[in-house]
Amino acid sequence: MADPFTALDALPRVRLAHLPTPIEPMPRLSAHLGGAELWVKRDDQTGLATGGNKTRKLEYLIAQAQQAGADCVITAGAAQSNHARQTAAAAAKVGLEAHLVLRALPSEPPAPIGNLLIDHLVGAAIHWTEESAPYSATIAQVADELRTAGKRPYVIPYGGSNAWGLLGYVQAMREFTAQARECGHFDAHIFATSSGGTQAGLVLGAHLAALPAECQVLGISVSDTADELVPRVVELTNAGAELLGSTWRASAEDVQVNDRYLGEGYAVVNAADREAVRLAAHMEGLLVDPVYTGRALAGLIDLVRQGVFGHGTRVLFWHTGGYAALGAFADALV
Ligand SMILES: Cc1ncc(COP(=O)(O)O)c(C=O)c1O
Repeated sequence: MADPFTALDALPRVRLAHLPTPIEPMPRLSAHLGGAELWVKRDDQTGLATGGNKTRKLEYLIAQAQQAGADCVITAGAAQSNHARQTAAAAAKVGLEAHLVLRALPSEPPAPIGNLLIDHLVGAAIHWTEESAPYSATIAQVADELRTAGKRPYVIPYGGSNAWGLLGYVQAMREFTAQARECGHFDAHIFATSSGGTQAGLVLGAHLAALPAECQVLGISVSDTADELVPRVVELTNAGAELLGSTWRASAEDVQVNDRYLGEGYAVVNAADREAVRLAAHMEGLLVDPVYTGRALAGLIDLVRQGVFGHGTRVLFWHTGGYAALGAFADALV
């Protein structure tokens, strides 16, 4: 059968990630919960000053920056942004200057720990802002200042989520389908979703790979309601489809988001997040962070306990990284 993913090979890509990432069983966590057989896709091991999902996106985004003749990149996020840290590390690796717009003001900029420490170490310039996602006003202002100084900035969007970035996760689904010959298929793919690019890439990849309709590609939201996220993911998925020359278009029914684990909001660590971080570490020696992967795992743990993913089903948890931030959440975890 012809490879449905070949259109990807014609698009510019800079190799940054350690691929393929392993897929491993989680037998002790599965036995402890007493439901589905749980496996993990180790996208926390992609590399770039630790790792995480942004490394795959940056393979395409940095290629775009290079094609545009940029000498610096700008991106934005929270003070403990994994995306900002990975972008800064990618920029260092290919010799671009990195400018990070990070949110702190009106409070004092936080101590350089976790991702922020790595931002400093890889040489990023940090621009503190009061603005929240998508940070467009401050990004535009920093871009103007850089242009005035004679630089050629390239803006990488919040979360790396645009048509180019999401291609990293179309590629990831291609990688999974090759690995599935060994580890078998799953009833559900579960992951943290926030700016939506990871989910859009997986949805488009699942379509191209013709995964069975009953196989769930389920994003556990860590920040936004499903009403906000679903249209965003649909739009991103379709922008990616267009780039790949596919005539398929996703609709809201193709995008599954569970927003029941938001608690008191983004990065406000709750008891379920804490339990997930500790269970993954105790049972599997696996580090997850309380903001993204721990919260998504908390959702998965709850769904297993409720019997939604019961005995006899198989679930793949995409570990999208985040543990570089752990030190910054020590007070909430210990
Ligand atoms: C560790 C981690 N997991 C998941 C996500 C969510 O990915 P996306 O923004 O593509 O929805 C992020 C985003 O920053 C992240 O840092």
